[in-house]
Amino acid sequence: MKKNAIFLFVFLAAFRLATAGEGMWLPLLLEQLNEKEMKSMGMRISAEDIYSINNSSLKDAILLFGRGCTAEIVSDKGLILTNHHCGYGQIQSHSSLEHDYLTNGFWAMNQSEELPNPGLSVTLLVRMEDVTSKVLQALKPGMSESQREAAIREISATLEQEAVKGTHYKAVVKPFYYGNEFYMFVSETFNDVRLVGAPPSNIGKFGGDTDNWMWPRHTGDFSIFRIYANKNNEPAEYSADNVPYTPKSHLKISLKGAEKGDFTFVFGYPGTTQEYLPSNAIQMITQQANPPAIRLRGKRLAIFDKYQNESNLVRIQYAAKHASVANYWKKMIGENRGIQKLDAINKKQELENGFKSWAASDAGREKMYGGILPAFDELYGKMGRLEEDQTYLIEAGLGIEAVRFAYGFNTLLIQSTDKKVTDEAIDEQIKKLRTYADAFFKNYYAPIDHEVFIVLMQDWFEHQEGARMPGNLTMELLKHGNSFTRWADVVFEKSMFTDQQRLNKFLDRYNRRKARQIEVDPMFSIAEAIYGHYIRAIRPSISGLEATNDSLQRIYMRGLMEYQPDKRFYPDANSTLRVTYGKVDDYSPRDAVDYRYYTTLEGIMEKEDPAIYDYVVEPKLKKLYREKDYGRYGDRDGTMHVCFTASNHTSVGNSGSPVLNADGYLLGINFDRNWEGTMSDLMYDPDQCRNISIDIRYCLFIVDKFAGAGHLVNEMTIVE
Ligand code: ARG
Ligand code: GLU
Repeated sequence: MKKNAIFLFVFLAAFRLATAGEGMWLPLLLEQLNEKEMKSMGMRISAEDIYSINNSSLKDAILLFGRGCTAEIVSDKGLILTNHHCGYGQIQSHSSLEHDYLTNGFWAMNQSEELPNPGLSVTLLVRMEDVTSKVLQALKPGMSESQREAAIREISATLEQEAVKGTHYKAVVKPFYYGNEFYMFVSETFNDVRLVGAPPSNIGKFGGDTDNWMWPRHTGDFSIFRIYANKNNEPAEYSADNVPYTPKSHLKISLKGAEKGDFTFVFGYPGTTQEYLPSNAIQMITQQANPPAIRLRGKRLAIFDKYQNESNLVRIQYAAKHASVANYWKKMIGENRGIQKLDAINKKQELENGFKSWAASDAGREKMYGGILPAFDELYGKMGRLEEDQTYLIEAGLGIEAVRFAYGFNTLLIQSTDKKVTDEAIDEQIKKLRTYADAFFKNYYAPIDHEVFIVLMQDWFEHQEGARMPGNLTMELLKHGNSFTRWADVVFEKSMFTDQQRLNKFLDRYNRRKARQIEVDPMFSIAEAIYGHYIRAIRPSISGLEATNDSLQRIYMRGLMEYQPDKRFYPDANSTLRVTYGKVDDYSPRDAVDYRYYTTLEGIMEKEDPAIYDYVVEPKLKKLYREKDYGRYGDRDGTMHVCFTASNHTSVGNSGSPVLNADGYLLGINFDRNWEGTMSDLMYDPDQCRNISIDIRYCLFIVDKFAGAGHLVNEMTIVE
């Protein structure tokens, strides 16, 4: 019996290892830390094929796209794939009533039709380097936290300068494991990136916010761009003379599809994870910060929904705002449920108890680590309250659009009262503010904001005592007879920041003596109270605690690594290039429910609802479906696969990342996680955490069969 149990334990442990998806690994260390496991899971290529310093490797096809997404090069002419939601801003900026690319899609039929995107860049990693010892050499024992930081800044700057001397590259040194290790990243940034193709929104955003973070999913979340370079194949600002970039390598595409159990890996730029925080932090995030944010966003979204359903114009005006408010709202809900279901706080506490006894059993360790957990208790005791205050300031105060907008006039106010600022500079600022105002009012519907003001202020006052709020707000409310509605009525009627005509009149006749009118504007003074409270009271206190936290977390991290010498630690995500690997896999979200790992076009037809914007199906897509006209993109089972799930540990920023198979061929494009697994930024659960990808065959089917842009597929390297 006992023997059997041990056998079962060993067997299960091995099984766990072989299916494990946890970890976001540094490409540089794959060979040392992961290659063996990756091969045991089915990988047929080597770590060197993925990341090599000397030879071209897959990493030469992976890009940081814009500020926070990933993209991959898929042709020798610099063609790149990312998500529709990553290219959304660019697609939107080229859209007008005559050319509504968001609604109808966009396809460049030749290179001259590809559209430039000022402000958009993509970044390629040239190499990375472990510079830990060089950085640590610059540090002396006994340094204070700020001395330490200054020394790190100085040595980093030196290393960065040396690394890029005589090149057009950029280098940055980043801390890993909370400042226990340091790596330098040398990269190359391209600024001429053109829009090549995007499906209509009812393919690229099918399911909208309703399906967001959810499985089963049917979103064709992709868009296509191309990198342009100068005649020497080097990065250059946009120019009509630029030519398509010739990459060192581009991804090959597999049309074989993904099957359950297949090895996959995701190569991209995850933004932030916090896997090594103490239980106090998880408690703070899930019990103090998330709940008011979820509640306040929920109220805001209900108001958006009401007005968006009433008017088509408002629906369009608030589409992007709705998406961005809803995205984190839903993420936080999922995160809280996941943490609860995983019993994550208890799990962390168990780990901490073990750590405590381990530290206590040795005098040296006790001296080094004994004080850490009590120090966290004290720190988070103070931090929690400030986090709450900050959450209300951001989610309630800055949830009011006109508050954020009005504060944009603060610079003009400051300039106007500063004699050193010339009249020309002020004219320049006015010009900027006009553009700023045009952009704001284009998508502003004051009745929404008016109601949001009432509802959010009321919530804030109900949940926080006045002493913790910006002082002026309490006075203002009192002045309006403690009525939120009356207060809102007056502010919205009097302020020039809620009405473009009033604002234009003011700007038309502006001279610096009129600056006072900004100051006394009722919306501006609310904004000033909110931002001022944040800048003067909340932020400095939080910063002080964060500095303490940084040093505690650094020591705790080192302690954890010593305490568990056999565990392989991966560094938390920090927007650097990572490899995460797992298997194509399904999951069971709750008792009696099993989800299949892939979806098909049948599911799109099941979800179709012409009355609901997010579930409209294009007639052309229906025709292809009826005729089963899938070409070489259909699955062997006769259906068109749309999305699939796998156990790769991904995070925000992995949007657009390539999902690759055992041979390193492109299988899909990552775009989301499942709701039940969104706590993976704090704690990963191999049982529940899945990444969601669009099947590359559906993507190419849309490009080729739906859009008739087969010339783009012809550019790619397809492995049938
Ligand atoms: N949840 C995905 C991510 O975090 C997709 C967001 C965009 N889609 C949406 N319906 N809001 O970025
Ligand atoms: N949609 C996310 C992004 O834009 C990726 C999904 C995730 O967070 O895992 O980065």
